[in-house]
Amino acid sequence: MTDFDDGPDRLADLLVEAGALTDPAWEAAVRAVPRHAFLPETVWVRDDDPPWRSPYGPDTPEWRDAAYADYALVTQVDDGESLGSDGRGMYPTSSASQPSLVVRMLQALNVTGGETALEIGTATGYNCALLCRRLGDKAVTSVEVDAALAQQAREKLSAAGYEPRLVVSDGAVPVEGGPFDRILATVAAKSIPAAWITQLAPDGMLVTPWGSDHAGHWLVRLTADGTGAAHGRILDEAPFMWLRSQRSHFGTWRDHVDVDAPMQAGRTKLDPRAALGADGSGRAIVIGTLVPDLYQRVIREGDEFTVWVYDAAGSWAAADYVPGASEWVQSRYGPRDIWAEIEAAYAVWESAGRPEGDRIGLTVTADEHRLWVDAPSRVIGEGLP
Ligand SMILES: C[S@@+](CC[C@H](N)C(=O)[O-])C[C@H]1O[C@@H](n2cnc3c(N)ncnc32)[C@H](O)[C@@H]1O
Repeated sequence: MTDFDDGPDRLADLLVEAGALTDPAWEAAVRAVPRHAFLPETVWVRDDDPPWRSPYGPDTPEWRDAAYADYALVTQVDDGESLGSDGRGMYPTSSASQPSLVVRMLQALNVTGGETALEIGTATGYNCALLCRRLGDKAVTSVEVDAALAQQAREKLSAAGYEPRLVVSDGAVPVEGGPFDRILATVAAKSIPAAWITQLAPDGMLVTPWGSDHAGHWLVRLTADGTGAAHGRILDEAPFMWLRSQRSHFGTWRDHVDVDAPMQAGRTKLDPRAALGADGSGRAIVIGTLVPDLYQRVIREGDEFTVWVYDAAGSWAAADYVPGASEWVQSRYGPRDIWAEIEAAYAVWESAGRPEGDRIGLTVTADEHRLWVDAPSRVIGEGLP
């Protein structure tokens, strides 16, 4: 017996016990598919000199212990050409997703058997193998933008006995074989590609991580309404890497903000704390959606802090938070008035009744995104990117 023989059962037990794996049919799939067989020769683990990652092979505990643990494993860095001169890498560009998130997303697809499915982001092929196990190879198409990763997945899927339709392409454009009853994106979108809506069968469902740099990644499930639109609510947090064409800026905030540049000073009545993102709040979700290409950096000094907000195109603003004040100093630089955009988005959130994420939903058509509260008819904001 190897270390891995009881791996799938150990993983299934762990996920059931944690409450993540609740559907017996998906549980059977997890018990049947060996995750280690889909991991590449090298995984990349963050070392004590962040943001660098070092390579670890199958003879290391970093690889072996993680194969059946509830961790995401980075399986490619820097699009396959590690940036470090010493063989280390910096940016995760592919991964074997965290198993609890994998099963939550599969369960969110609401399949009963007999559906066709398109997966975006084949990567290791593990998730694709689970789909094949549940729906049958002929029902599954998976698309991967990176040719080398796609080839590895093809070999590993075949060795494990699965023969889905595998496509090497940008998953943001339509693939042959549609329409699909289910589309599962295992890569996150800031703007959901039109093809994910147009390829949905009537009543089809799209499950995807969606979000913004400001608010993070949220799992949404959208159901096609037969008129070219799909609607659904935010379900949960779902940290994922962004679609290749929608990646966040590389480098640090100082590569995009010159703190010494002459800025136009003003005052704001918006409490700078309201501009803080990535806190899981409905406010951050609305601001991050209505204000595109929005990044931030907070510099603290005791009880006071400065919120820097910026885009990757030469505009930024800073707001100084002082406890107890009713107005704050705010200054800006560049063609875009990002702070004014945040104030406007905050006002939208406030006039919608300050909803949290469980009340917020999204409608996507081939042409636009609409954010709503409680029901698709209660659209908030407008002209989303
Ligand atoms: C988190 S991994 C997916 C994990 C995978 N489902 C598994 O089971 O191993 C995300 C993958 O999406 C791929 N990707 C990024 N942008 C893409 C695009 N536009 N079209 C297709 N795949 C894309 C990346 O190359 C990466 O391999």
